[in-house]
Amino acid sequence: MQAILLKKPGHFEQIGIDEPSKPGPGEALVRVHRVGICGTDISGYLGKMPFYSYPRIPGHELGVEVIAVGEGVSKVNPGQRCSVEPYLNCRECFACRRGRGNCCENLRVLGVHIDGGLRPHFLVPGHKLHPSHKLMLDQLALVETLGIGCHAVHRGQPQAGEFALVVGAGPIGLSVIEFVKLTGAKIIVLDLNEKRLDFCKNQMGVAHTIRFRGDGSELRELQDITGGALAPVVFDATGNTQSMCNAFNYVAHTGRLVFVGIVTDEIRFSDPLLHRREMTVLASRNALPDEFRRIIALIEEERIDTRPWITHRTAFGDLIEAFPSYTKQETGVIKAMVEL
Ligand SMILES: NC(=O)c1ccc[n+]([C@@H]2O[C@H](COP(=O)([O-])OP(=O)(O)OC[C@H]3O[C@@H](n4cnc5c(N)ncnc54)[C@H](O)[C@@H]3O)[C@@H](O)[C@H]2O)c1
Ligand SMILES: [Zn+2]
Ligand SMILES: [Zn+2]
Repeated sequence: MQAILLKKPGHFEQIGIDEPSKPGPGEALVRVHRVGICGTDISGYLGKMPFYSYPRIPGHELGVEVIAVGEGVSKVNPGQRCSVEPYLNCRECFACRRGRGNCCENLRVLGVHIDGGLRPHFLVPGHKLHPSHKLMLDQLALVETLGIGCHAVHRGQPQAGEFALVVGAGPIGLSVIEFVKLTGAKIIVLDLNEKRLDFCKNQMGVAHTIRFRGDGSELRELQDITGGALAPVVFDATGNTQSMCNAFNYVAHTGRLVFVGIVTDEIRFSDPLLHRREMTVLASRNALPDEFRRIIALIEEERIDTRPWITHRTAFGDLIEAFPSYTKQETGVIKAMVEL
């Protein structure tokens, strides 16, 4: 069968690989139908992802169908459509024992640390499959991206009626917005890019947007919107160091700051600012199994509308040619979906 391999940064190859063996105990054999392309794949392609190892078959946002299951797999049956939780955790380390496998000390993510889903068939632990009778394959492939926002919002706990500021309106920021909406908090979005702010207003129903101009005007605008108090909860989903340092200024007294975006640099902040406001700073990483199940239920109940999400599509055979365009914000890409 054919797979797409990221041989080294900037270089994909379509290669022939062996079909997987029969599923062993606890495993399931799946047929991959959809693969969402995300910032992690793009960073891997651009050579900007610190944890990425090459050569690698990418693909961690997956809509699959179960073909066969091994001994002891009872949660899913052949024929079922599933989302895949791509975070393979050890189930033994401190974090895993506390039920926090999303930040397992020995975490291996499909398509990042080990080969992922850009191939027609592969084996996956049965307990990492989350089935739905109702969801379309596209929707199943969106669950992982939504998981990032779901977990971040769980970390930040925005309350109904209070303001929540989301900095960065890329796919990860949008996934945060989806879950802030469900809390009843009032959303404000800050971004450099006017087009992305328009998308938030027109497609996501966001009432307040602020354009970041780099002249400090965003802080005044934020004060105007919040009646001077600033934001009780701030999510930074930019992946930009400067923005993450600035974000401390946007947090209200007693407020919470959640770093969703990831950088390799150090983040600097003023201790008096942190202390005066008695701020809580949180990181958010990946998502938990219960969050996958919650998201599937929310889409099934039509409480999350996935229609605005997929802006680009490609067939498996055309991906290598199309991929470089997905790295450019100008193309308006939010989520590109690969069909197999
Ligand atoms: N927490 C997790 O588990 C997790 C999972 C996946 C991705 N991420 C990270 O989330 C981040 C965002 O990913 P993405 O795919 O949405 O990226 P993206 O680049 O598509 O979006 C980032 C957005 O931030 C905006 N931005 C950049 N600098 C800004 C600034 N100074 N002020 C305001 N806006 C600014 C950009 O215009 C852009 O719209 C990345 O760092 C990525 O690595 C985290
Ligand atoms: Zn992803
Ligand atoms: Zn672990």
